[in-house]
Amino acid sequence: MTNNAASNKVTRAVRIAGTGSYVPEKILTNHDLEKMVDTSDDWITSRTGIKERRIAGADEFTSHMASHAGRRALDQAGIRGEDIDLIIVATITPDTLTPATACYVQKSLDAYRAVAFDISAACSGFLYALEFARVAIACGTFKNALIIGAEKLSAFVNWTDRDTCVLFGDGAGAAVLTSQDDDNAAGTILSTHLGTDGKQAAILNIPGGGSACPITLQNAEQHLAALAMQGREVFKCAVNAMRQAAEIAIEEAGLTADDISLVIPHQANLRIIDAITDRLKIEKNRVFINLDKYGNTSAAAVAIALDEANRSAAVKPGDRILLVAFGAGLTWASAVIEW
Ligand code: UT7
Repeated sequence: MTNNAASNKVTRAVRIAGTGSYVPEKILTNHDLEKMVDTSDDWITSRTGIKERRIAGADEFTSHMASHAGRRALDQAGIRGEDIDLIIVATITPDTLTPATACYVQKSLDAYRAVAFDISAACSGFLYALEFARVAIACGTFKNALIIGAEKLSAFVNWTDRDTCVLFGDGAGAAVLTSQDDDNAAGTILSTHLGTDGKQAAILNIPGGGSACPITLQNAEQHLAALAMQGREVFKCAVNAMRQAAEIAIEEAGLTADDISLVIPHQANLRIIDAITDRLKIEKNRVFINLDKYGNTSAAAVAIALDEANRSAAVKPGDRILLVAFGAGLTWASAVIEW
């Protein structure tokens, strides 16, 4: 699965200077879902580990959540919107097909110097954004970048389909990337790895709403603009791709799995995470989990988890953190960061 992938042992240092996240207030529990579709708390918990998820309000868009998370990351980095010269929002649930959600974020953060655009790499999107911002900073094109993973998946879920509607939630996470100076090496990106397999595009997608299948009066009832997934196939691919991506990023960083203090994986399914970390021989106390609270928030998942880990006792200076993700495309991505 890694034949068309790109890996990097990083040569010119770029660091994460701040993180932030935001989730909507409204909580939808497994018990709430029992009243909506033929499911049970027991099934959802045992098959996925998810207990509840957050749902954005009707007037709360992806860009609003992204802006909240971005502002918190800027505050922690000690810089203002006007100091940012690149904004990348990773999302599959943009406010509008055009302009990019990043443009709305630029406006709300008064980041008018920033070049702003979105990328679509599903659940791997935040780590794709991390890598492209890292390269742009390492090349000297930009100095400070704000990368955000943000999703309003509740707007793209078929709430009558129990196979998918129990899995997803809304939220946003962000990080400020900047060139490393000698005085502060905290958050340095040591290695990265990205990959894509377009042959498997059909096993996880939103089939309608694009140019291939515009939503019409005739097909509007068929939920074509909702997430569709062949769960078992995706599960197998996720385990293989994330394990390989993790191993490659660890090796490119010149480390072994024993050197990793904390794994922050994509938060789709606890069984997927256990399968990967068991194969890497990484104990559960070195794995950050928050999917019980938020479900699968796609591009936001790793970003929210990174911020929660950063703001808790889960990470200490000098820790080596492995980030690893997998999603539609298929796409996968990993990075090792020294905190
Ligand atoms: O973020 C991008 C990456 N996404 C992922 O990594 C997700 C990968 N896939 C998965 O996490 C799992 O495949 C799921 C959680 C989606 C499904 O778990 P599974 O163990 O693969 O279940 P399944 O799809 O094989 O379904 C098992 C049974 C079926 O019934 P039968 O055919 O055995 O009678 C389903 O109809 O469970 C049934 N089922 C449900 N039952 C209660 C499916 N959804 C539900 C539900 N509640 N919500």
